Amino acid sequence: MSETLTIDHVGQRGDGVAYADGATAFVPYTLPGETVTAAPLPGHPDRRALQAVLKPSAERIDPFCKYFGKCGGCAIQHWRPENYRAWKRQIVVDTLAHAGIACAVDDLIDAHGAGRRRITVHARRDADNALHVGFAAAGSHAIVDIEQCPILDPALAGALDVARVLADILKPTNKPLDIQITAASNGLDVDVRGTGPLPTPMIAILSGIAEQYKLTRLTRHGELVLMRTPPAITVGPAQVLLPPGSFLQATTAGEDALGALVVKHAGRSKLIADLFCGVGPFALRLAAKSRVLAFDSEAGAIGALQIAAKSPGLKPIKAEVRDLFRRPMVPQELRDVDGVVFDPPRQGALAQVTHLVKSKVALVIAVSCNVQTFARDARLLIDGGYRIDSVTPVDQFRHTPHVELVAKFVK
Ligand SMILES: C[S@@+](CC[C@H](N)C(=O)[O-])C[C@H]1O[C@@H](n2cnc3c(N)ncnc32)[C@H](O)[C@@H]1O
Repeated sequence: MSETLTIDHVGQRGDGVAYADGATAFVPYTLPGETVTAAPLPGHPDRRALQAVLKPSAERIDPFCKYFGKCGGCAIQHWRPENYRAWKRQIVVDTLAHAGIACAVDDLIDAHGAGRRRITVHARRDADNALHVGFAAAGSHAIVDIEQCPILDPALAGALDVARVLADILKPTNKPLDIQITAASNGLDVDVRGTGPLPTPMIAILSGIAEQYKLTRLTRHGELVLMRTPPAITVGPAQVLLPPGSFLQATTAGEDALGALVVKHAGRSKLIADLFCGVGPFALRLAAKSRVLAFDSEAGAIGALQIAAKSPGLKPIKAEVRDLFRRPMVPQELRDVDGVVFDPPRQGALAQVTHLVKSKVALVIAVSCNVQTFARDARLLIDGGYRIDSVTPVDQFRHTPHVELVAKFVK
């Protein structure tokens, strides 16, 4: 059964939103003002599959990737860049307004740069036992075979080939695999997950692949298979040796943009706490001028930061493993701290914020990859006596609904 719908606007997940018979329908790959035909999606009463665009928008452009519409990685390639950018900034504006937070929102900073430097490639067999290697399909767990992805940093060249070779070799394990590949500054760092224990001859074959493809390192669930050279990135004067599968901002330009905003907002602070610090892209930049306390729950990330912190020219960085959900910094520990930076996972920093509002810390810099949890945390900071001074959205996940932001709070 097919429906004809008129798209009202693009929603926060990137789908066109239409209103039909008092109900809301979400239609992917559509734009405001378009008339489209769409079919129901079994099991998803409010979602539709786009069939045809009967009346296209003047803002519609041709997508540049042959997998667009099948691969779930990109939601928007069919919208003029200026309209796309305005929509993305508006996600931040609307979410903050909904939380009753009145503040100016800066222009969106484009931080796609050279492209994504980190991917997770999935390898799965289908019902006919055929192996598929690529990214998850839009709206399903099926895998779309991907040979080439135009939004990747050229430093990831060859990454999809390596993933395919590894998946093929590991086919006898008969397990779904997630192959995480990071473009370090000296080559590809690969961590394969999902294999389960492997026999020694298989490990030897994998080592051969790491040599053949000149990987910096190949690990399996973080366990070393072969290290040709330690994978590293450069942050300011420091070389950071990456732990296997560690978090990194999605693009180098994203890390630079977020880092520059954090440093700008930190100003002349003497002592800064960098919470959820990861391998230290903010701590290592801040330490050009400030002493830094840095915490993260990942021991590997903290170990990498402790080594990088010894680089010449940096003020002291004290980095420790700490679960900040269970053991947030309390006001007494924050007594001598001039400013707090937090950059939590998508859940946000609720526990930490409830202690920050009881502290005397005058400056809080929030970095977020989830505007919903950011709005919740910002509301608590404001109700607890902070004033929101600036909000800057940063776009390192171009073509998707994901938006990062950096906000400054003072009291
Ligand atoms: C969005 S990343 C940010 C990392 C770093 N600021 C960066 O820019 O690369 C979130 C970080 O939070 C850490 N994390 C997750 N849960 C945590 C917890 N309960 N306590 C402390 N750190 C946590 C992760 O290990 C990860 O490094």
